[in-house]
Amino acid sequence: MKASAKIICLVLSVVLLSALFLTPAAAEPAATGRTPVRVSACVAGDNGRTVGFCWYTAEKADSVVTLFDESGAVVRATLSDPVCEEWEGMWMHKVTASALPENAQLTYTVGDGSSTVTGTVKTGRADDTVKFIEIADVQASSAENFEKGAATLNAAFETLPDFDFVANCGDFTNDSTNEEWDLYDASFGEMNRTYLLAPVSGNHDGFGVANWFNNMFNLDTRESVQTKNGVNYSFDYGNAHFAVLNTNDCLNVSKPQLKWLKNDMNSTDKDWKIVFIHKSPYTLGKDGKWPDALQLQKTLTKVCDETNVDLVIGGHDHQYLRTKPLTGNKLDPNGVTYLLSGTAGSKRYEIREFLAEHFMPKAFIDALVVQKDGYGNYWNGSDWRSTDERNIGGCYNTVQIEGGKLTLNAYIFGDQSHESMPIDHLELTKKTGENKITFTGDNTTSKFAYAAGSVASYVSLAVYAFTNWLPRFLALVPELIYSVAVYDTF
Ligand SMILES: [Fe+2]
Ligand SMILES: [Fe+2]
Repeated sequence: MKASAKIICLVLSVVLLSALFLTPAAAEPAATGRTPVRVSACVAGDNGRTVGFCWYTAEKADSVVTLFDESGAVVRATLSDPVCEEWEGMWMHKVTASALPENAQLTYTVGDGSSTVTGTVKTGRADDTVKFIEIADVQASSAENFEKGAATLNAAFETLPDFDFVANCGDFTNDSTNEEWDLYDASFGEMNRTYLLAPVSGNHDGFGVANWFNNMFNLDTRESVQTKNGVNYSFDYGNAHFAVLNTNDCLNVSKPQLKWLKNDMNSTDKDWKIVFIHKSPYTLGKDGKWPDALQLQKTLTKVCDETNVDLVIGGHDHQYLRTKPLTGNKLDPNGVTYLLSGTAGSKRYEIREFLAEHFMPKAFIDALVVQKDGYGNYWNGSDWRSTDERNIGGCYNTVQIEGGKLTLNAYIFGDQSHESMPIDHLELTKKTGENKITFTGDNTTSKFAYAAGSVASYVSLAVYAFTNWLPRFLALVPELIYSVAVYDTF
C-alpha cells in the first residue's frame, strides 16, 4: 500500500473510531417489542393480598401475570380479566391478582408469558402492625433529578428495610409526558419492582391530558368518585385503615368525595385511620396562599374530625411541616395531626412566613423544616434555626404502627452527605378497640350525583374564595410583591 493510501486509511480509521466513541449514542427507546416497562404493583386490597399490576409494552402483547412462592411453586391466585389498551403510542396492561397468601414473600413475572420481567412483592400479616414509607413530590423532568429522588427512596429502604408498602403522595413527574414517565422508570423502575405501592395523584400527574395517572397504575376504582385525573380508594393494613384522596377533583376535593371519605372512615373499626392526600391544608409554602388550601382547612378537616382520623399525610408544597393535633382548626391534644411531607425530589420551596398571619397560625406548627438553603432551616417553635448545608436534600418519612402506638420519623437524605439525617419524630398512642363501624351501605357515587355535587362544590369554592380567601389574599399583596423581588416567584 502506498504511503498516501496508508495516511488516508489512518485518517478514515480515526474518524470512524471517533464517530463510534465520541458521538453520543442515540437514545434507546424506552420500550422495545413486548418487553414490559413501567412495571408497578399497587395495593388494591386489604393487607396487600390483592395487588394491581400495571406495565407497558411497545408492541401489542398478551397480559400475563404469574406469581411464585419462596419455593418457586406457582401461587394459586385469582387473576382478573387482563386489560391491554393502546395509550399514548404504547400498550398498557393491567391484571389484578387477589386471594394471595398472607405473610408471603412472592416473586412475580409480568409480560406475555415469553417476554417477561420479574419483581417481588410482600403480602401482609394478620396482626396489628404495619410499617410504611412515605415520599412525595419527586416532580422531576430531568434524569439527574429523577436519580436524586430514587436515591432518597433507596435511603428510605435502608432506614426501614422491613416496610410493608410505600405511599407516594403525588407529583411523580413535572409534566406527565411519555418522556418523563420513561425517565421516572429509568431511575425508579428496578426499585419499583420490589415493593407494593399506594400512589396518590398529584396535580402534576394528570393535568393537561386526562388519565395519565389512572393509566400508570392499576388501582381499585370501584368507589372512586372521579377517574379522569386521579383515583380515591381505601384499604386496610394491620390495624390501620387508609383512605387515599384525589385533590385533582374540583380543584381539591368535591362534596361527593368528602361524602365518600366520611362513609369510608365510618365503615372501618380499625384502630388507626390515616388519610393520604396530595394538596395539604396546612402549609407555609408558596401554594398556601390559594383558596384550595384554605378550603381544605374548612372541609376536609371537618370530615377528619367527625370520623376520628389520626393522621393526614400530604405533599404539594415541597417543604416539611407537621401540625400539632387540631380539631375544628383549633389546638386539641386529641385532634388530627396534619403532615406536609417534604419533597423527595430537588424542587424545594422557601417558607412564606407571612402566610402564617392570615392562612395558618404559627401556633399550629410542631415541626417545620426547610430543605432549601437561604432562609433558616427549621422552626423551633419560636424562631428560625439554621443547619449546615449537609442537611439539605430529599425528604422521606417512615411510619410504624404496633397496636396502640404510632411512630413517625422524618429524614432528609443529604445531597452532599449522602446520609439520612433525622429531622422529626412523633409518637401517638391510643386506646385500641374504640372505633365502631357506623356505615355499611353502598359507597359508590352515580355520575349524576357526582356532576351535581361537583357543581355545588365549585359554587361553594367560588363563594368561599370571594368572601373568605380574597380579603386575606389582598392583605398579602405587599409581601407577594416582596416575594417576587426576592424569590422571583410568588
Ligand atoms: Fe409538587
Ligand atoms: Fe402538587
